Amino acid sequence: MKKALVCGGGGFIGGHLINRLKSEGYWVRGVDIKENEYDNNNADEFIIGDLRDPVIADEVVTADLDEIYQLAADMGGAGFVFTGTNDAAIMHNSILCNLNVLEAAKNKGVRKIFYSSSACMYPEYNQMDPNNPKCSEESAYPAAPDSEYGWEKLFSERLFLAYQKNHGMEVRIARFHNIFGPQGTWDGGREKAPAAVCRKVAMAEDGGSIEIWGDGQQTRSFLIVDECVEGIRRLMNSDFSGPVNLGSEEMISLNDFAKMVIDISGKHLTINNIPGPLGVRGRNSDNHLIQQKLGWAPSTPLRRGVEKTYDWISEQIQKKVPALVEA
Ligand code: NAD
Ligand code: GDD
Repeated sequence: MKKALVCGGGGFIGGHLINRLKSEGYWVRGVDIKENEYDNNNADEFIIGDLRDPVIADEVVTADLDEIYQLAADMGGAGFVFTGTNDAAIMHNSILCNLNVLEAAKNKGVRKIFYSSSACMYPEYNQMDPNNPKCSEESAYPAAPDSEYGWEKLFSERLFLAYQKNHGMEVRIARFHNIFGPQGTWDGGREKAPAAVCRKVAMAEDGGSIEIWGDGQQTRSFLIVDECVEGIRRLMNSDFSGPVNLGSEEMISLNDFAKMVIDISGKHLTINNIPGPLGVRGRNSDNHLIQQKLGWAPSTPLRRGVEKTYDWISEQIQKKVPALVEA
């Protein structure tokens, strides 16, 4: 039986990944500073621990592990990473997790390790035209991410690759493009646009309006978490290190995305575009490399993922704020 460690296993993607590894017959240890709040975590062993502490990293990384998945990071959507107010914490916290987990893996002789990078590492200058962003893997340099979160991800990609070069580790790196789905953060300030829009629509009164940050013409692609986990497993089982994009190529403007969610809800709502943290003007995954290297790329239509997510967020609202829903 293979043994895996999922760092950040109390989080959204980590929770889904643990369940996937369990369904494949793995023995799984999870570690996080918090429990998974949606019970979406069937790990054999779950340790509450802070990976910024090298002693904790040394404790959870044991020599009997076959694989490590490093997803622990201080992260969030535009309202968390693009305001500037969390920059020092994001860089400090995430880099310590990466350094400590890598060093422990090297010391314990655990060679195979996955790192979750982000599309936020791509240069801003290629993402100014909302209808024609460029995010092919080789376009990463000259580097010019628009956020410190993106700079940290880019540095950490290089850190993992340096350990591969100098310490014989087998590194796998995916650059996630806005992953969403059930069990994802949907309120509290760290939520990304898909969950935020679902929440706003679900909470709006029929005939009312919802607020969308910016002019709504900015573009993104959103990938349902099941496809993300599928991609992680395929990359880990391949002999390709990456970095490789793991995202959807179904680009959509934020206002059109909001219209899709409104349509799914069956409500009549208008969109009110307001100032807010924006990030890049346009972004889309480029899946040529993943298709070429893995013979696979995500294919689930956006609307199918949004339908599932809208239903799940509506249920969470019913559970958490019944008074608001009834009002
Ligand atoms: P998440 O916030 O749900 O999961 C990250 C987990 O890391 C959290 O549970 C958090 O508590 C944990 N963590 C943070 N600091 C820690 C520490 N010091 N010690 C132990 N655990 C710690 O986010 P997610 O969406 O599941 O993202 C997982 C990974 O994928 C992150 O590295 C993130 O940067 C990356 N990523 C995610 C997206 C996305 O759209 N969700 C996009 C690009 C990259
Ligand atoms: N979060 C959020 N909430 N975004 C909104 C909202 C809202 O209510 N309304 C409009 N938006 C707009 C944002 O202004 C931004 O232009 C766009 O929707 C997408 O926002 P997010 O989903 O929050 O973030 P992102 O796509 O810019 O970046 C995310 O994805 C990266 C990977 O692709 C972040 O989660 C990054 O941390 C991640 O690495």
